[in-house]
Amino acid sequence: MDGNGRWASKRGLPRTAGHSAGEESLADAVRAASKRDVDYLTVFGFSTENWARPRAEVRHILGLHKKLFGRIEELNENNVRVNWIGRPFDEPGSRTPVYVQRAIRNAIEDTAKNTGMVLTVAFDYGSRSELTRAAIQLAKSGADINPENLQKHLYDPSLPPVDVLVRTSGELRISNFLLWQIKSAKIYFTERPWPDFDAIELDAAIALTKN
Ligand code: IPE
Ligand code: MG
Repeated sequence: MDGNGRWASKRGLPRTAGHSAGEESLADAVRAASKRDVDYLTVFGFSTENWARPRAEVRHILGLHKKLFGRIEELNENNVRVNWIGRPFDEPGSRTPVYVQRAIRNAIEDTAKNTGMVLTVAFDYGSRSELTRAAIQLAKSGADINPENLQKHLYDPSLPPVDVLVRTSGELRISNFLLWQIKSAKIYFTERPWPDFDAIELDAAIALTKN
């Protein structure tokens, strides 16, 4: 969900206003996707690299995640089940504050019975960390080292391969997101910053999966 900062700068607003607009855009995207033929929507909310941003910006983004995970009523209305991938909270180096951990746990619990789209939020996520951890766990397990067995040690082994990857804001790169899972993904690049991503863009991205 890239381009929040640029969206704000263009309007003479602080970057934090861009992140807030981005959170609204995500709520819209979740609603739109849940009404379409989308079984899984996985979004990059906060990366392992994002901790390096200015403290006030990080605090604002964390607050927005708390808000996002708190939208239980809306998620339930749309039959959306919340899921999360990222560095486990009990692992050395985990920096996720307890109030965000609690918001994530509650959202998962309070939407667990929903049967529609699975919304996975990647928070404190980095693909290389995920794969390194999976490799270590697999080696320790003593099982054969092959792709099928490595898959079992991903943060969420049940996530299917990605059909289409969306990158907003004119950035033509991947940035450490789901590197294993995007093996055969189509890629939808758009110039629009994330706050301007709408249902028309979503349909264009989905259309890539049809051919
Ligand atoms: C994406 O917007 C939000 C996060 C990475 C949390 P950016 O903050 O990267 O916005 P730009 O790239 O500076 O425009
Ligand atoms: Mg960016």
